[in-house]
Order: sequence, then C-alpha cells, then structure tokens
Amino acid sequence: MKNSPHDASRVVALVPAAGQGVRLGAATPKAFVPVGGSPMLTHAIDGLIASGVVDRIVIMVPAELIERARHLSATAGSSIPVSVVAGGSERIDSVRAGLTAAPEATHVLVHDAARALTPPSLIARVVAELRAGRRAVVPGLPVTDTIKSVDAHGVVTGTPERAGLRAIQTPQGFEAQLLREAYALDLPATDDAGLVERLGAHVHVIPGDPMAFKITTPLDLRLAEALLAERPVAQAVPR
Ligand code: CTP
Ligand code: MG
Repeated sequence: MKNSPHDASRVVALVPAAGQGVRLGAATPKAFVPVGGSPMLTHAIDGLIASGVVDRIVIMVPAELIERARHLSATAGSSIPVSVVAGGSERIDSVRAGLTAAPEATHVLVHDAARALTPPSLIARVVAELRAGRRAVVPGLPVTDTIKSVDAHGVVTGTPERAGLRAIQTPQGFEAQLLREAYALDLPATDDAGLVERLGAHVHVIPGDPMAFKITTPLDLRLAEALLAERPVAQAVPR
C-alpha cells in the first residue's frame, strides 16, 4: 500500500526511544538493549520500513545517544529518510520533540521502540485505516486478566466489565493536525490517544497483535529473545 506518485500525504513515524528502562534494569537505556543480536530500536525501525507505508522516520533518543542512533539507522540501509532528535524527560516530551521535527507530516504514527517485534502487517493496518479517513486509530487486544480499580489503601473500588476493556498497543496513528491540537492542550496523559480523547475526537480501536507486546521487564526480554530465536525470516509486507 505504497503512496502513489500523486499522493500528497506524508506518513511520518515518530519512535519514542528516549526512556531509561528502569523496570528492565539493563546497563544502557532500554531502546539500545540488544534482543536477538540487535538493539530494540533497530528492530522497531526495520518493522516500520518493512511495512512499506511510512515516508519518513523520526527517532527520539537520550541526548547523549544521538550519534549512536544515527549510526544504527545509517547501517540499517534504510530506503526512507531516518532522522534522530533528542527526546525529553517524559515520553510525552519525547513525542512533542518528534512532532516538532516532522512539520511536513499529514499523518503521524507514534510507535514505541520497546515494541520491537511489532509485525509490519499491524503497522500497515493502522495506516490503511488513516487512509480510509479515520482521524485516530489505535491497536488493542482484549484483556485476559480481570482488572480492578483500587484506592490508595489497596481496597477495591470497582471491577469494570472485562468485555469492554482493551489493552492498547502502538503504533497509534493520527491525522497530524489532530495530534498537534491535542499536544497544544499541554495536559498529562499516558498515551497519545488519551490526549486526542481530551479533545473530544473519536479514537478507533482496531485488533492489535500479540507480537506488538511492549518489552518492559526482564521477563518480556526473555520472551522476545525466545521468539526471535525461532523466527525463520523477517516478515515483510510487499511494497
Ligand atoms: N520513552 C521516551 N522518552 C521518555 C520515556 C519513554 O521516548 N522520556 C519511550 C521509551 O524509550 C519506550 C516508550 O517510550 O520506547 C515506552 O516507554 P516505557 O516502556 O515506559 O520505556 P522506559 O520509560 O524506557 O521504561 P521505564 O518506564 O521502565 O523506565
Ligand atoms: Mg517509562
């Protein structure tokens, strides 16, 4: 689903990779931790390129790792331009820095480096929904655990109906103008769609993919290693 030569749309993928990875507890910031022999960030970039639906990638990393990230993206032999900018102290600051570095974007994907094994087919499905006219699209999976809300003392305050819950993944896709308006609100939110919801815009959930899980803890890293060890070849979406 590559753009036609007459297509004026520009899909820019912003890749937050500036976190420290406190919960993983590795010696380097998480996006630079190797899995299957390559940094998570490299896997994430490869997946975006293989999707065939992204025109440019902007990576946000810790300021001291900008040169290292540029080297990684250069050696990836990317068929599309890859830019590297400094992220911020919170994820929201990193995404804001990426948005500023992508003024030409008509559509934006925000995709965590930590979701290193995300299938290119999921990325392509999110962009297909944007091209069909959706303004905000996020992948999500049904939750398998029962979720409870609790108060500060650990006392349960509620049990939401599980059928109506989704665990949300990335890439999250937006019409660029909508995401810029959402970021102009300057409110706290744990994901980008959350900011767009504050604007009152509809956010559409499409089926996610278990392989788009976020590598957060040492257990997640072991799972990713095991999955990569048995992967035959990289799955690419034909361009
Ligand atoms: N991220 C970022 N800038 C930050 C914080 C996070 O770009 N200031 C990125 C991370 O690099 C990651 C994604 O946002 O790719 C999701 O965040 P998370 O999984 O929480 O990663 P970390 O913040 O690195 O991990 P932790 O919270 O355990 O420190
Ligand atoms: Mg974090």
